[in-house]
Amino acid sequence: MKVRVLSGVQPTGNLHIGNYLGALKNWVKIQYDYESIFCIVDLHAITVYQNPQELRSNIHQLAALFLACGIDPKHSSIIAQSSVPGHAELAWMFTCVTPLGWLERMTQFKAKSEAQETIGDGLLQYPVLMAADILLYQAKIVPVGDDQRQHLELTRDIAQRFNSQYGETFVLPETKLPLVGARVMGLDDPTTKMSKSATGAGHAVALLDPPAVIRKKIMRATTDSQPGVNFESKGAGVENLLNIHQAFTEWTDDQMRAHFEGMRYGDLKKTVAEAVVDGLMPIQQRYQEITADPSIITAVLKEGALRVIPIAQATVELTKQRMGLYSLV
Ligand code: TRP
Repeated sequence: MKVRVLSGVQPTGNLHIGNYLGALKNWVKIQYDYESIFCIVDLHAITVYQNPQELRSNIHQLAALFLACGIDPKHSSIIAQSSVPGHAELAWMFTCVTPLGWLERMTQFKAKSEAQETIGDGLLQYPVLMAADILLYQAKIVPVGDDQRQHLELTRDIAQRFNSQYGETFVLPETKLPLVGARVMGLDDPTTKMSKSATGAGHAVALLDPPAVIRKKIMRATTDSQPGVNFESKGAGVENLLNIHQAFTEWTDDQMRAHFEGMRYGDLKKTVAEAVVDGLMPIQQRYQEITADPSIITAVLKEGALRVIPIAQATVELTKQRMGLYSLV
């Protein structure tokens, strides 16, 4: 049996080249070696208010982008989290085995709750729901960025606590992350990771940005005070641009050095911008084709849900049995 991999992406904000080069591009490459589930985590999105129409359309857009990037829905399951009841069911059962202190300690909870006037209970429960996403399918590998590491540790803690209270039930997911891609930094600030929630207009290149916008953003990217590329001492901004280029083109280190050593920053940026435009073009074309027929996405989300629901249901039933809850089956 193939190892099961699960990852979740919130249907908020625009997917950008950091998401693509850091994660999606690799998932596409390795998808046939694993059994993958790509979860569009709409229940996580509503931990802060979402406009209902926008949320619905973001779910469709994200699913279309997964397809456009090359996820094969015949093999990998693309699901909307809220379409599989087991996520919310298991989350409640986990809520009841999770000490409040564990949740209050989460750095993301602390950061997000500071920014809110009233703190919804959902924000506190966020990592419990994430644990449910993962353990519902007994996923072994969870490819996420560093910012999610603490949540993954919590998932293991919850699984362990459940197992010790109610008997061996859950497989602990691995926290080591074998599927690492490029780490893309913000164009306007190369010391922070490129982020969907950053507000600066020049921060990220979105996967659906038109070529003119891509060029403009990259031409304005932060570099440093040297006149041109010096591989012996690269500033963070130049390093980021080179990484982006290499991740799109898959050039070797030698090719990169031969081409870019000594190049002036203006020319470097032009070259990188063209590599990004070229790299995104096929994705954008496929996206247009896919979204021209809305029934494609609804069918893919249905196919994914129908494939995973039996797995989810089996876990919910087992968990209920362990806890002594009531079941009609
Ligand atoms: N919290 C994750 C993020 O913001 C998204 C997520 C929800 C997730 N459930 C998941 C990631 C399960 C991996 C596995 O990036």
